[in-house]
Amino acid sequence: MNQIYWKKNAHKRAGSMSDLSFLSTEESNKVLQFHKSYLKYKETPLTTLSALSNYLGVKQISVKDESQRYNLNAFKVLGGLYAIAKYIGNQLGIPDEQLTFDKLKSPSVKESLGTLTFVSATDGNHGRGVAWAAQQLGHQAVIHMPKGSSSRRLQHIHDCGAEGYITDWNYDKTVEYVANSAKENGWVVIQDTAWEGYEEIPKWIMQGYSAIATEVINQSESKKPTHLFLQAGVGSFASAIIGSVISNYKETSPKIVIVEPDQANCFYRSFLAGKGEAVAVTGDMDTIMAGLACGVPNKVSWEIIRNYADIAVSCSDDVAATGMRILGNPLDKDERIISGESGAVPMGLLYKLLSDPNLVKVKEELDLDSDSHILLINTEGDTDAVKYKQIVWEGAHPSYQSR
Ligand SMILES: Cc1ncc(COP(=O)(O)O)c(C=O)c1O
Repeated sequence: MNQIYWKKNAHKRAGSMSDLSFLSTEESNKVLQFHKSYLKYKETPLTTLSALSNYLGVKQISVKDESQRYNLNAFKVLGGLYAIAKYIGNQLGIPDEQLTFDKLKSPSVKESLGTLTFVSATDGNHGRGVAWAAQQLGHQAVIHMPKGSSSRRLQHIHDCGAEGYITDWNYDKTVEYVANSAKENGWVVIQDTAWEGYEEIPKWIMQGYSAIATEVINQSESKKPTHLFLQAGVGSFASAIIGSVISNYKETSPKIVIVEPDQANCFYRSFLAGKGEAVAVTGDMDTIMAGLACGVPNKVSWEIIRNYADIAVSCSDDVAATGMRILGNPLDKDERIISGESGAVPMGLLYKLLSDPNLVKVKEELDLDSDSHILLINTEGDTDAVKYKQIVWEGAHPSYQSR
């Protein structure tokens, strides 16, 4: 029960620093300006859980709730949408400052480029974001999901008008298939991970995610967090937030904790190996944290995480389930937050670190105490509402089989 393993990052700020210029404050402000051009744009809430902070003996626990992003129940659309916008902008020579949602939807863009097809591999959330963005801008999307993916998450993709399929392979093999199918068909790959020779679009996706950090920085005013817990699949999300936060807070940046499922713990294993090289996880990666079930780190993200993260933590599925229950059943006047499997694991981990005497060494390593202000990001809501109930109501983890 609640298996938690951690490893300190021996390479933090060692050697050459990462190039964070694409996540600089100036770049991130341009990105946010683009997102704001969408008519229904609304900042997601940053909620303080005061009763829980008191109960666990820390100064403040804040949760940025991305389940409320554009009715899509997850943060992912920020990346897919921005990458598609940048792709179209680049094709037509539109400078970043002039990229707006309406301009991209205009008939003149359609006349110049025709109907584009964007293709991607996904656990569900990224694909839904790409499908939604393509539909909103009048283009097409073809989305492939790994073996064992949720049929309800696939349905969300179909609901956005995209073609969508569940493959017989794990996430990383599905990404390979997508890259090949794009070559054969002349489609555009909008993939949320980078590899040798494919870095530009993943960097645009990461820039798209930086809007979350910019919003948090604006919402927090002078109250900077001391600790930032970030869940990782391929690491694009975590490294985008790290890059933006470091660019903004500089030497007063928080301690950074990377959180992963134990079945797909590539960053934890990379820290464990201690050579400063990324280590991949292979196989089925069977975890309830579908969004984090990725075994190969994003090449660009790995460098950022290696240079700036403090520790990586590998968690069993019940840690995520614990986080879902805590967020869904608040103390006193705290806000209720519906958080899905990949969204809730940082909360499950924080709870265990602050309440389990067996984990006191990690707590001390991180200087988690009564002065700590911890920031968590709920990256998804109940993106599979049936599974959410099975886990929260029935405790049906980790062995539930209904896909
Ligand atoms: C809900 C959720 N949280 C976190 C992540 C992790 O993002 P990344 O793969 O960039 O590490 C994902 C990825 O799909 C996700 O869907």
